[in-house]
Amino acid sequence: MPHSVHTAAGTFGNFIDGEWVPSRAGKVFENRNPADQDDLIGVFQQSSVDDAQAAIEAARGAYERWRLVPAPKRAEILFRAAGLLVERKEQCARDMTREMGKVLEEARGDVQEAIDMTFFMAGEGRRQYGQTVPSELRDKFAMSVRQPLGVCSAITPWNFPMAIPSWKIMPALVCGNTVVFKPATLTPLSAVNFVKVLEDAGVPKGVVNLVTGGPDVGTLLATHEAVRVVSFTGSTSVGRTVNQNAAPGFKKVHLEMGGKNVVIIMDDALLDLAVDGCLWGGFGTTGQRCTAASRVVVHEKVYDDFIERFIARARALRVGNGLDEQVQVGPSISASQLETVMQYVEVGQTEGASLLAGGHRLDAGPMAKGFFHEPTVFGDVDPRMRIAQEEIFGPVVSVIRCRSLDQAIEIGNGVQYGLSASIYTRDINRAFAAMRDMYTGIFYVNAPTIGAEVHLPFGGTKATGNGHREAGTAALDVFSEWKSIYVDFSGRLQRAQIDAQEL
Ligand code: UN1
Repeated sequence: MPHSVHTAAGTFGNFIDGEWVPSRAGKVFENRNPADQDDLIGVFQQSSVDDAQAAIEAARGAYERWRLVPAPKRAEILFRAAGLLVERKEQCARDMTREMGKVLEEARGDVQEAIDMTFFMAGEGRRQYGQTVPSELRDKFAMSVRQPLGVCSAITPWNFPMAIPSWKIMPALVCGNTVVFKPATLTPLSAVNFVKVLEDAGVPKGVVNLVTGGPDVGTLLATHEAVRVVSFTGSTSVGRTVNQNAAPGFKKVHLEMGGKNVVIIMDDALLDLAVDGCLWGGFGTTGQRCTAASRVVVHEKVYDDFIERFIARARALRVGNGLDEQVQVGPSISASQLETVMQYVEVGQTEGASLLAGGHRLDAGPMAKGFFHEPTVFGDVDPRMRIAQEEIFGPVVSVIRCRSLDQAIEIGNGVQYGLSASIYTRDINRAFAAMRDMYTGIFYVNAPTIGAEVHLPFGGTKATGNGHREAGTAALDVFSEWKSIYVDFSGRLQRAQIDAQEL
């Protein structure tokens, strides 16, 4: 397999009302491989508010028909989409690796996560259970049903270019909503591949619309009166802006934002297992997951032993172009992300942490054309340091010493985020105590902080989220709202809370 696959790059349109179209202003942008800037992935539409407006109008129009399609029929389209994703998995994964750099095995996992979610949500087409309850009045029937809301905006990041769109778009569709999808500007090809699958599966025109481009599009998607749900995954600062933009229109806003996840390693842990977990959790996807294990809190009795094994393994990781099956860690997504990583490495050293492995950009030979950085480990980290508090989104792990489980939990919870946490221990009492006391949306025992499956809720506490969850049936709560229905078949006026007093 050559390191970069240079193909003639095509131009890709927006998808509005069932047509692939250029942006109204005719503006485009280039997308290049972060492992090799000579590799042009494609040319994509630099959309403006006019394009977003057209997409929202198309979604608004299509909603009136789509909401009346029976949910099991909507689901049949999703089953077909899942089948097409299975067929196209390898090509989608290769495109993804070229476009955002994660190693091929992980890109396949990303597409697989979209497949899993699509099958799961297709299954929900025959569920979406409501409640029936006995009425307090005679000859009266009481029930609740889920109803769709209308147009949903899906604003998605570059780190899971197919999985995360599927988490939003599949539940939106099965519930009967229509969608305007704005992917990150760094991963438009995966978005095109995803929407093409939906088109080929038979999603009617206008039901899913794709608009690639910049922040103006995102602003309209959070403010337009026809949009009823805004589902956003990205940074906490942009999430706050989305929330503020959407608030005056009382839209339902689902936010999934930053993380500063922790692995706790107790003195009774299987240390090699913990090292495996920390490598995968910290350096998988080049540390560019919101679930990344960027902090490791280690009991002082095993600290030195852990550090020795961990840094030896971190130094041995093979960094390079993710299309090479031997490579374990790909590049950072962009020049600015690499710059952020390098700045944090400097910050860590200035703060007095010990740089134990890595710490430098890799730019020898062909690597000079990409955004590569060594897997980096800091030891002797104080939990108050910036490298232990702020989300870096790169291959940098901070190791912190602790004396007890209580102290580890205090350190674990001592950040603004609350996405994912884990503990390595063989003591069931410690495992259950940490499970209860870590205030996060996701928790693992004897596994790293990454690896969520699609059928359980995904999301976090504090500055990670705003109380909603995606994935699993929890996603249905974001993309539907309840309607309670009372049917009186007594033929007379019956007053709730008043006439119910008669036996
Ligand atoms: C993300 O990092 O935004 O649990 C999503 C995991 C993956 C999803 C990560 N299944 O790490």
